[in-house]
Amino acid sequence: MAGGRAFRPSAPRRAAFAALLTLLFLASLSFFLSSEPAFPRPSSSSSPPSARLAAVRRHAADHAAVLAAYAAHARKLKEASAAQSLSFSTLSSDLSALSARLASHISLPEDALKPLEKEARERIKFARALAADAKEGFDTQSKIQKLSDTVFAVGEQLARGADAGPHARLAKPNAFADDPDPAPEFDDPSLYHYAVFSDNVLAVSVVVASAARAAADPSRHVFHVVTAPMYLPAFRIWFARRPPPLGVHVQLLAYSDFPFLNATNSPVIRQIEAGKSDVALLDYLRFYLPDMFPALRRVVLLEDDVVVQKDLAALGQSDLDGKVNGAVEMCFGGFRRYRKYLNFTQPIVRDRFNPGACAWAYGVNVFDLQAWRRDGCTELFHQYMEMNEDGELWDPTSVLTAGLMTFYGNTKPLDKSWHVMGLGYNPSISPEAIRGAAVIHFDGNMKPWLDVALNQYKALWTKYVDTEMEFLTLCNFGL
Ligand SMILES: *[C@@H]1O[C@H](CO)[C@@H](O)[C@H](O)[C@H]1NC(C)=O
Ligand SMILES: *[C@@H]1O[C@H](CO)[C@@H](O)[C@H](O)[C@H]1NC(C)=O
Repeated sequence: MAGGRAFRPSAPRRAAFAALLTLLFLASLSFFLSSEPAFPRPSSSSSPPSARLAAVRRHAADHAAVLAAYAAHARKLKEASAAQSLSFSTLSSDLSALSARLASHISLPEDALKPLEKEARERIKFARALAADAKEGFDTQSKIQKLSDTVFAVGEQLARGADAGPHARLAKPNAFADDPDPAPEFDDPSLYHYAVFSDNVLAVSVVVASAARAAADPSRHVFHVVTAPMYLPAFRIWFARRPPPLGVHVQLLAYSDFPFLNATNSPVIRQIEAGKSDVALLDYLRFYLPDMFPALRRVVLLEDDVVVQKDLAALGQSDLDGKVNGAVEMCFGGFRRYRKYLNFTQPIVRDRFNPGACAWAYGVNVFDLQAWRRDGCTELFHQYMEMNEDGELWDPTSVLTAGLMTFYGNTKPLDKSWHVMGLGYNPSISPEAIRGAAVIHFDGNMKPWLDVALNQYKALWTKYVDTEMEFLTLCNFGL
């Protein structure tokens, strides 16, 4: 996602966002783990009162969680008025209290419950309307988060084997055991290897599905997906429910699986732990490919907002002239040259780089890991990260700039048809360019999984979404 990330949210915005995600995660987790069953059942008036009440209680708790998150978000971003923020919080605690009352009154006779039930239903209706109004401003990433949470929660339910109903057939506890045996393909350097770093399980499923469908022999393609530890269970459950298509191989990892990602070794971790830098670890994992995959010779890095349209076997084998990185260049005229990314008033920058050098893009990159190890690129990256601790050499949130420095003079330009960019912000890309592209990249803010996606490109992505997946309907995903 970092390649050509032209409009980056500001630091406070990102922080607020992180807070929202955490809140949503905790809220929905506690909600899901405290309620059975995993799947909402239709609650008609013919169902027994206790079941109906349980359903109402679930809805109340659900809306309480969502509104609490909205309230936090509204406060942080100051996008909503103080009054709106207050009404969200009030309503949220009302609903929580109501939900608690429902829980403790569940054994009362039906007559006594009627008024309580009516009150709950009315409040839920109001909450839903309010949430729908407020949703526009910040629904985007929270949907992804909700999806991950739901996938995770459903998996938990299945694993506990609590549900003996029609969904019991889904339970395959072994299929998402904590540590499945690694397949021999994961370490086989004669196969085509891809790395995807992401916390968006839906996006990753599209990358994998599209690449599998485009490959002449999918069984020779291996995807290494690395995510944050909290998302790993969701990824495991997703791929257990929908095994990788057409025989492609998928390895699921959390970055906590790599011992070298520690504060002694990595300035990135040091800066994150010191809370100094607005750095997303997931974005910086790409600088550790040779350490993550010691047995491999080449890895193609794909960002999670791409769709693969052609067989990438030839990309994996392309001649890099001994260079470390194969990438598509993105300069034209005077634009997107090194001077745009680096602070050339700094002597160290002036000495080492040519301000007119052409910038390249992340999104689709071939890395020769042997050349990388030979040239010590990870150490070089560490040096640059340390030099930039005060953020005066370049914008420390820009993963692209860190890459431009690390692989300066070590990048081979690839044919532009390998990687066609801009589908997340540019409404006028030529249809021929898109048709001829091996990979299309939704860089920019208008991601295909969001409501703001550019309509003319959305279908290029959604056609790979597994709409049969019950998690999607559970989350009311905007597809
Ligand atoms: C940190 O990573 C380095 C490099 O891989 C390793 O030698 C060291 O043992 C690690 N330290 C800890 C505390 O794990
Ligand atoms: C660029 O470097 C100069 C020192 O050479 C420094 O004064 C300035 O603040 C830097 N610019 C940015 C945007 O950090």
